[in-house]
Amino acid sequence: MVDTPLNDSRWHYKCVVLILCVVVKSSTTHVVMLAFFVKLHIRGIATLGLDNYREDMMSRMKVYLIGATSAGRELESIIDTIDYERWELIGFLHSYAGESPLCDKPSDYRILGSWDSYPLKRNDNCILAIPDIVWKKRAYNFLRDRAKIVTYVSPLSRIGKFSQVGEGSILVSTAVLSCNVHIGKMVYINGGTQIGHDTIVGDYSTIFSQVQIGGKCVIGEGVTIGSCAVLRPGVKIGDGATIGTGSVVIRNVKPGVTVFGNPAKTISMSE
Ligand SMILES: CC(C)(COP(=O)(O)OP(=O)(O)OC[C@H]1O[C@@H](n2cnc3c(N)ncnc32)[C@H](O)[C@@H]1OP(=O)(O)O)[C@@H](O)C(=O)NCCC(=O)NCCS
Repeated sequence: MVDTPLNDSRWHYKCVVLILCVVVKSSTTHVVMLAFFVKLHIRGIATLGLDNYREDMMSRMKVYLIGATSAGRELESIIDTIDYERWELIGFLHSYAGESPLCDKPSDYRILGSWDSYPLKRNDNCILAIPDIVWKKRAYNFLRDRAKIVTYVSPLSRIGKFSQVGEGSILVSTAVLSCNVHIGKMVYINGGTQIGHDTIVGDYSTIFSQVQIGGKCVIGEGVTIGSCAVLRPGVKIGDGATIGTGSVVIRNVKPGVTVFGNPAKTISMSE
């Protein structure tokens, strides 16, 4: 809590001293009491800022970022620039399949190890910044009983009334959910995306930036929606489908299908 001199716990002493100053007639006592009041007040103001700073810093939650690709670095940027009062980043945990993804990219943190071998404790907070559906499922299934999976909503995002965000889901930057929107678990929603009223988004889906989803849409499990796509209100997207960047989806999309274009058409079926 950000404190002010009015919230200072010594206020009742100050009130008593002030009342006595008014009631007591002796001028010497007046001077002594006023001096005491001023001392209390100055001490209060002098220590208040530092105390609050210490308290705020101690109440910050330490968190690991799981995934050191661009999504992880975007989360690093958001937390360190606008959300540092709530969270303190410890570093990245990545899944190694070759070279470190941070080797040619700037970051203030390093990869501390692999999420499947790093000695995490049950109470360690982890944000799973992994848009890729296969990898996010893998990491979630491995970590869910070994650490605390954080549901992260950036302070710039907005969640409307009666909307819900499931465990481990992430609203990056300026995502906006209208009213009665249901987001499943481990859903990744990037900045600028807007989701209309009464829409349902299934578990493990990934919705990239600037996507516009109309009201009453039903998006299945493990769906990927590319940047700047537009979904007509009420469309249903089957499990595992992929929507191409900039597509305009006006009809339902079958499970496992990839569509793109305006109007979006099928290009392939996933295996
Ligand atoms: C739709 C998508 C999944 C297809 O990927 P893919 O299966 O690897 O297909 P390719 O990229 O090989 O493209 C196949 C053909 O479709 C075309 N195509 C692909 N995506 C397209 C799109 N969104 N709009 C128009 N044409 C597209 C390609 O030009 C190519 O045409 P060609 O064979 O005549 O050259 C991919 O293009 C896409 O849009 N992914 C979303 C990525 C995204 O938004 N990421 C956000 C990260 S910030």
